[in-house]
Amino acid sequence: MDRRRRGVSEWLRTRRGRLQTCSPSGWRDWNQYRSKLVAWLHASKREWPLEPDASVLYLGAAEGTTVSHVCDLCPRGRVAAIEVSPTAMAELLIVAKRYQNLLPVLTDAHFPARYQPQAEGCDFLYQDIAQRDQLAIFLRNWDFYQPRQGLLILKAPGIDTRTPGAVLDKAELELCKTFATVERSDISRWAKGHAAFWIEEPLGENGATGEN
Ligand SMILES: C[S@@+](CC[C@H](N)C(=O)[O-])C[C@H]1O[C@@H](n2cnc3c(N)ncnc32)[C@H](O)[C@@H]1O
Repeated sequence: MDRRRRGVSEWLRTRRGRLQTCSPSGWRDWNQYRSKLVAWLHASKREWPLEPDASVLYLGAAEGTTVSHVCDLCPRGRVAAIEVSPTAMAELLIVAKRYQNLLPVLTDAHFPARYQPQAEGCDFLYQDIAQRDQLAIFLRNWDFYQPRQGLLILKAPGIDTRTPGAVLDKAELELCKTFATVERSDISRWAKGHAAFWIEEPLGENGATGEN
């Protein structure tokens, strides 16, 4: 881990080579084998991108492992956490008792309007859903909420088990048709068959970014 990240904020630090976030009950490790978001941070070598007051739409929250770290890092913002499985949601609700900034919603991410009250005005879209149409879900939510930035975790075998490399290449091409910035990071070392795509700014008509 980059030494410059040490003491990067009040809520994120590196200790003995491990990233930690500051939860309401103290510092805790953020494990790249359990959270693809921190795997991406390691792979991309980027700084943590969100402000403490950021508003995040998180699709595929599961039991809240990664969601809880995002809540630690955005203590003055909010995290709308969408999850379709009632079993996972039962665990997520327990996590939500510890975080006032966590808004869990039991619903299907195919239907962005269903969680508009919780996600309206979000500036960051994070998705970690292993469905066949995971790319379409991301694009639909981006279109609906128009965040400033996003991170899409793609599980290639979730789309096609035979040719994971080609699946990721094709997804990247698709994303490049829509967004000015598409930065792919290989996180397969920590999460087999996965890649992360950092996304910014949709292309305007004729492929323009809209910037002067
Ligand atoms: C790989 S797990 C997410 C792990 C989680 N992001 C973490 O790091 O702690 C994928 C989750 O997406 C959920 N999921 C799958 N399809 C979904 C959908 N259409 N809408 C919302 N959640 C969905 C699954 O139930 C599962 O809990």
